[in-house]
Amino acid sequence: MTPHKKVAILISGGGSNMVSLAKSMVGDHPARPCLVLANSVDAGGLVKAADMGIETAYVDHRPFKGDRAAFEAELVKPILASGADIVCLAGFMRVLTADFVGQFKGRMLNIHPSLLPKYTGLHTHARALDAGDHEHGCTVHEVTPVLDDGPLLGQARVPVEPGDTADDLAARVLVQEHKLYPAVLRRFAAGDKTPVLLPS
Ligand code: GRF
Repeated sequence: MTPHKKVAILISGGGSNMVSLAKSMVGDHPARPCLVLANSVDAGGLVKAADMGIETAYVDHRPFKGDRAAFEAELVKPILASGADIVCLAGFMRVLTADFVGQFKGRMLNIHPSLLPKYTGLHTHARALDAGDHEHGCTVHEVTPVLDDGPLLGQARVPVEPGDTADDLAARVLVQEHKLYPAVLRRFAAGDKTPVLLPS
């Protein structure tokens, strides 16, 4: 039995994607969560992770006042201490520098709430509605120094319904995020980078 891959999950808020990932890493899954790390002590996901028995930590970004390198020099410490093989960004809302990302080249994943390469950045649901798109969704990709770029590891599509608000669409996409990210992580941890495409 090969030892489990260790997965560190970075969050900024409620951590619903973190919960889905953590819950999926059981049984014959090749990975196990080793750390949940937030950029604020107030991140709701920290309590959820602790309740699941997962090691938690936080590094508040605010004292660093935009000095990304200094923030990241602290942020990386618990990740390295945890021995993480894979780092999953899950609702992590800080932009990471090329230097930080470079330390985890080929083993850092992110989920983004759009059908990349469409709508990198923020407010993706409103932008899809404003564009009159009939389809929207989410993407899991390998993290590279270019924001919301990197090799595609999975994508889930949802229909845009008449009268949808951005919140309606976000909720529909989030359901798919909670399916897509665990499916991608299971493959990725087994060394399989074949993209997961949903609905299958
Ligand atoms: C999700 O929409 C995710 O796509 C984005 O952050 C939002 C909240 O994620 N990156 P979570 O509930 O904190 O996992």
